[in-house]
Amino acid sequence: MSTFQAPKGTYDLIPPDSATYLAVRDAIAAPLRTSGYGYIETPGFEDVNLFARGVGESTDIVTKEMYTLTTKGGSELALRPEGTASVLRAALEANLHKAGNLPVKLWYSGSYYRYERPQKGRYRHFSQVGAEAIGTEDPALDAELIILADQAYRSLGLARFRILLNSLGDKECRPVYREALQAFLRDLDLDEETRRRIEINPLRVLDDKRAEVQKQLTGAPLLRDFLCDACKAYHEEVRELLTEAGVVYEDDEKLVRGLDYYTRTTFEFVHDGLGSQSAVGGGGRYDGLSEMIGGPALPSVGWALGVDRTVLALEAEGIGLDVPAPTSVYAVPLGEEARRVLFGLVTELRKAGVATDFAFGGRGLKGAMKSANRSGARYTVVAGERDLAEGGVQLKDMESGEQEAVALGDLVAVVQARLA
Ligand code: HAM
Repeated sequence: MSTFQAPKGTYDLIPPDSATYLAVRDAIAAPLRTSGYGYIETPGFEDVNLFARGVGESTDIVTKEMYTLTTKGGSELALRPEGTASVLRAALEANLHKAGNLPVKLWYSGSYYRYERPQKGRYRHFSQVGAEAIGTEDPALDAELIILADQAYRSLGLARFRILLNSLGDKECRPVYREALQAFLRDLDLDEETRRRIEINPLRVLDDKRAEVQKQLTGAPLLRDFLCDACKAYHEEVRELLTEAGVVYEDDEKLVRGLDYYTRTTFEFVHDGLGSQSAVGGGGRYDGLSEMIGGPALPSVGWALGVDRTVLALEAEGIGLDVPAPTSVYAVPLGEEARRVLFGLVTELRKAGVATDFAFGGRGLKGAMKSANRSGARYTVVAGERDLAEGGVQLKDMESGEQEAVALGDLVAVVQARLA
């Protein structure tokens, strides 16, 4: 070990486990790529005010969890705690919304940073794959996104996840509800900090995990009873489309999300094998966010799925992904001349699309064969002076143990045929 360790709340992805992370990212992205979503990448840091305004001044993310920094040039930046505000900022900056092709559908994959108290499933550096559909108000778009996330999780073989669904209303009906909720909450027996929260962000109080708070919340006014007709009809349409698509969800009137930009449809994917950090993904509509960050009105919807927690969910269900061995052929040269020849063959095999590795460092046969075994390669190519003198190499099937001489010029074709 060196003097240094990974910072608190972070961990390294190393082989072979890292292959699972790649496979999870691919599986989540796959349905997006075939549904009209284009890939977007934004910087790992942004103007701190983008998140303060976008995610919300009263959220835990902005008040407690942001990694902020002042650059040498005096700019106030923050490591991105989430992707939505950045993606919308980038879309606006590039005028994607003006290209006349709404919604603008984008997907992304990357690292996010929150200074949270670390525990299993909760890290200070974590990874998300997300999708945003910008500029269109259409319940089918909300439904599409939920269906695609459901599809992604099913393709991974996950079964023990649930979809929680709610509507948070819009700028017409939510303020009315907010006042009714505040009036109710002000009469409760709550600590100072929670009292402050009633005034800034009363909906978050509903999300308080403490039993003594939850106990007092029975009888609290429910947003459901305050939704305006337009929001009700919209939500009903989303629900029907999901049902028609065969997606099972649960109505959860108490679902409030930790970010302020949500309107109308909100949802969370929770997994029952993860303990307290059960949310594997979440999202919803954010019809007002564009205006909050200085853009035009652009009703939008999106989600982000947590890669780290999805991997934990796979573990909880005992699912091992079928990750193909990274190496199909392992080349073992015996002697200096064989080294030259086999190294050339390795390049040829790779050009032909065969995943190939080589015994570097001039080890003896025994050590090299050990590495060949560890690599998981199906075939080993061994060659010494005598083989080369006969114009060939030995091709060993690592499963059956059978070995045969193959002419140098035939090797690529023979290996390809056998692997096919
Ligand atoms: P979020 O619910 O804050 O939403 O994060 C989405 C997912 O990221 C969570 O469900 C969880 O799986 C993962 N995640 C969040 N924080 C951590 C952490 N500290 N450690 C490990 N995993 C974590 C958003 O970020 C929104 N931008 C989603 C969205 C997209 N809404 C609309 N569009």
